[in-house]
Amino acid sequence: MAEERNLIQHRHKLYLAPLKGFTDHVFRNVFSEHFGGFDVAVAPFISSKSDTKIKRNYVKDVLPENNTGMPVIPQILSKTAEDFVFLANYLYDIGYKAVNWNLGCPFPMVAKKRRGSGMLPHTDMILEFLDTAVPALKGTMSIKIRLGWKSPDELFRLIPSLNQYDIDELMIHPRTGLQRYSGTTDLDSFEHCLEMTELPIVYNGDIRNYEDFIRLSERFNHINRWMIGRWCIANPFLPATIKSGQNHHQEKIEMLKQFHTELFQQYRIMLDGPSHLLNKMKGIWRYFSLPFDEFKKTMKRIKKSTSPDQYLDLVNQFFDNEAKWEQ
Ligand SMILES: Cc1cc2nc3c(=O)[nH]c(=O)nc-3n(C[C@H](O)[C@H](O)[C@H](O)COP(=O)(O)O)c2cc1C
Repeated sequence: MAEERNLIQHRHKLYLAPLKGFTDHVFRNVFSEHFGGFDVAVAPFISSKSDTKIKRNYVKDVLPENNTGMPVIPQILSKTAEDFVFLANYLYDIGYKAVNWNLGCPFPMVAKKRRGSGMLPHTDMILEFLDTAVPALKGTMSIKIRLGWKSPDELFRLIPSLNQYDIDELMIHPRTGLQRYSGTTDLDSFEHCLEMTELPIVYNGDIRNYEDFIRLSERFNHINRWMIGRWCIANPFLPATIKSGQNHHQEKIEMLKQFHTELFQQYRIMLDGPSHLLNKMKGIWRYFSLPFDEFKKTMKRIKKSTSPDQYLDLVNQFFDNEAKWEQ
């Protein structure tokens, strides 16, 4: 039985989800060096522009030389097919055969301009976009999508038409845009999408631990593509555990400490000045601190640190003297 499960798990392909502000190239490289488990990452979105010139710095996060850890699929946020194609073809020329279109972003600033999940009520706009974009791409595209802006009916309405396009895969986060990241994922609606679609599907949402993965992979046993975002920051061992079927890492706290130190050092080189570095590192603790719920006081002290050196001292003291890993 265990052997059987192992074989099955090798069949699974794991995707690192795009998390703007978190899973940039530094994170992706350091993560793959320290923990592994992911087969590919979708990079946080780059907005398309109507300029006809793209500066390398604009796509710095996905420049191949900055991405040594794992294969990457760049993601584009756009509602204008021509601009999308221009950026996608630029990315093709620097080495990316496939790009991903963001139809999931729920943030009001994005959605009210009919971008991201704000485009989902407008089936005709999406189909017009695809009619122009798909034939004009030098490479191929996939789509990351939610169930809808307001209601899963939006995706139910769209899927029969999506089946007609040459799209690599559809990554579905089964929430609506209005839900953002709260409330539960709607697995019944996800299942209904599965029944309707002819495209390869990637499941994404709330795979918080190994048990969640087993439960989902048993329910959706035709799926072998899974995407994990926030929960691989909260538990960086998760993808490798899913891949191997074993939770066999020994020195977990030491591994987390080394991962943290490396991130800190790399961001110190990349970011401009101590306050950017401090903000970046404190931001990561939004998810990194989740397994350490009982250490609220220490987490508060880390959050209140005022210089990178003080911050690093506090974090290292925490890992050396307090931290316990129970998962
Ligand atoms: C802070 C944050 C930033 C995100 N940035 C992006 C993004 O750039 N592109 C995208 O398609 N989704 C983005 N997402 C959504 C995630 O990729 C993912 O769909 C969502 O977090 C659900 O997966 P999870 O439960 O495994 O985290 C973001 C989510 C969060 C919380």
